[in-house]
Amino acid sequence: SNEKQHFRIGFSQCGMSDRWREEMVEGMNRELSFYPELSMILKDSKWNNKVQYAQIEELINLPVDLLIVSPNDSKYLEPAITKAYQKGIPVLVVDRRVFSDQFTAFVGANNYVVGQHAGEYANILLNGHGRVLEIGFGPHTAPAIGRHNGFYSVIQKYPHIQYVDYLNKDWADKDLRGALMQQLKKNPDLTDLIFAHNDRCALIAYQVCKELGIEKKIKLIGVDGLVGNNLGLDLVKKGIIHATILYPTGGEESIRVAAKILRKQAFEKENQLFTSVIDAQNVNIMLAQLNKLREQHADIEHQATRIKDLTKIFSSQQAVLYLSFFF
Ligand code: FRU
Repeated sequence: SNEKQHFRIGFSQCGMSDRWREEMVEGMNRELSFYPELSMILKDSKWNNKVQYAQIEELINLPVDLLIVSPNDSKYLEPAITKAYQKGIPVLVVDRRVFSDQFTAFVGANNYVVGQHAGEYANILLNGHGRVLEIGFGPHTAPAIGRHNGFYSVIQKYPHIQYVDYLNKDWADKDLRGALMQQLKKNPDLTDLIFAHNDRCALIAYQVCKELGIEKKIKLIGVDGLVGNNLGLDLVKKGIIHATILYPTGGEESIRVAAKILRKQAFEKENQLFTSVIDAQNVNIMLAQLNKLREQHADIEHQATRIKDLTKIFSSQQAVLYLSFFF
């Protein structure tokens, strides 16, 4: 019957070298432990478009029963994603969306809204007057495009807020450091606020400002809001950044939607995740809630390994029974 069928999910992940992506995969694995009929093959392209393209083709050729993909560069990888979809493999796009309609479903927060939140918050922080600089992480990544458009649309509305520049590249951390150093050295008085497209870049911005002795003058907004030392919420709590815009990874949701698709149950094509501004006002309540959730997650993981161990013991006992029947 259909219930007994095993499904292989292929996950093409653009990179795994940051906490946000780790957390996404942890969420997926936790959720997967509830679906014994599902397994997942993870391919990490290490931020290389060509490698990711080839890995998607590999997953198509296996074939997997469903493809989850978070494309590094949405434009570059769109043909590979279309190819999977047209071969009849359901495709779940997560976090970094594609601009075609050749996919089955999407899970992620709305990056245009993320940018709008940052713009409105910048206006409040600056009391309607000031100069803003923006930092992105790649010209063709869907989140950078969405965040920039949302931010810019809001900033434009305020006549006394001046948009200084947009530094947007597929940076290594040290390259961003260099570019920002150059920008701020040239004219340190030109910037009052920096909107960085993630908290990691916001921390780099802070370090550069500190080196130049202007860290008290420049306000910072980041995105992601992860829990952990020197991650988004901690940076807000320490007062290193003024705010972060929460951007959930959607690991659990992705597996839930994938399972519905594979079981041929009803699902939504657009699965929008929650986003909101986290600042000094609400960071403590946010941390309290997320820590509670973390404890529950640890519990779930503990239970899952216990069940696995019990299953192992059970099946080896079964094997002993089976053998003793024959010998
Ligand atoms: C992590 C990350 C996050 C960001 C997301 C956008 O790899 O850069 O910081 O919010 O990807 O795709």
